[in-house]
Amino acid sequence: MKISIIGAGNVATHLGIALDAAGFEICEVFSREIAHALAITKDLYNGKATNELNFSDSEARFFILAVSDDAIASVAEQLVLPEDSILAHTSGSFPLAELSRLMLVHHDLPVETAVFYPLMTFSKSVSLDFKKTPLCIEATKESIATILIEIGKKIRNVVYTVNTAERKTLHLAAVFSCNFTNHLFSLAKEILDENDLEFAMLEPLIKATVAKALRSEHPADVQTGPAVRGDEQTIKAHLKLLNDNKDLTKIYQTMTQSIQDWHDA
Ligand SMILES: NC(=O)c1ccc[n+]([C@@H]2O[C@H](COP(=O)([O-])OP(=O)(O)OC[C@H]3O[C@@H](n4cnc5c(N)ncnc54)[C@H](OP(=O)(O)O)[C@@H]3O)[C@@H](O)[C@H]2O)c1
Repeated sequence: MKISIIGAGNVATHLGIALDAAGFEICEVFSREIAHALAITKDLYNGKATNELNFSDSEARFFILAVSDDAIASVAEQLVLPEDSILAHTSGSFPLAELSRLMLVHHDLPVETAVFYPLMTFSKSVSLDFKKTPLCIEATKESIATILIEIGKKIRNVVYTVNTAERKTLHLAAVFSCNFTNHLFSLAKEILDENDLEFAMLEPLIKATVAKALRSEHPADVQTGPAVRGDEQTIKAHLKLLNDNKDLTKIYQTMTQSIQDWHDA
């Protein structure tokens, strides 16, 4: 099946590369900024960059909508797709029923709707082995889910069928385990930078923390640090060091309280 990708960000870049490498023909890549689309098509066997949402002449029948969550509705409304198309978004939180409703209300030709959600963190500039990415599929019809599972299995061995409620829960857990954790790494780097110390010194600690959490039955079983030990003098000393930084103080206190509540319960 020929594929077009709407969006030219992190997910579009990685999906484009993975689908292309798996032998799928990518017909078009859309971006409002043609240069963003060109940055993807230059690495594809045969893909055209476009800044138009009219795909009526496209040879593609599977359209991947990989735009920011807040842009999904407005882009879906403007899309013109050929007959017998499947449109799948890649969001962890946008409901499938809402995409189906938008396509029904705003389009003359019927469009099959689905979700093609990769449970992974993607950055354009960082290469990634897509085979290690869990792929979550949802579709309004079983026949469409089967097609998407087939496509998914060409880029990823294991594909999950996940409904909208389950996907939202997975996404929420992903925000805690990935996005918040990464932000904490950024804050740690800032603390070190301000004191002329290298972030690289934390690398073994960060790797050991993640490995230990994944190996243990429950991450809480391997929690360490002053909060779980109840070392109040150390906590006070840390808060004193953060005295001038209200944001970091708030985060430190919230995390400390959360750890202590968990382990006191
Ligand atoms: N990044 C991840 O780790 C990740 C993982 C799983 C799922 N997802 C989901 O995948 C989707 C894309 O995420 P991303 O990280 O690839 O985002 P991104 O890198 O920020 O790229 C967003 C894309 O959306 C386009 N866009 C934004 N507003 C638009 C509008 N009003 N009209 C048309 N296009 C618009 C941008 O267009 P321009 O090129 O024109 O600027 C850009 O190409 C989201 O639904 C996200 O939840 C992301």
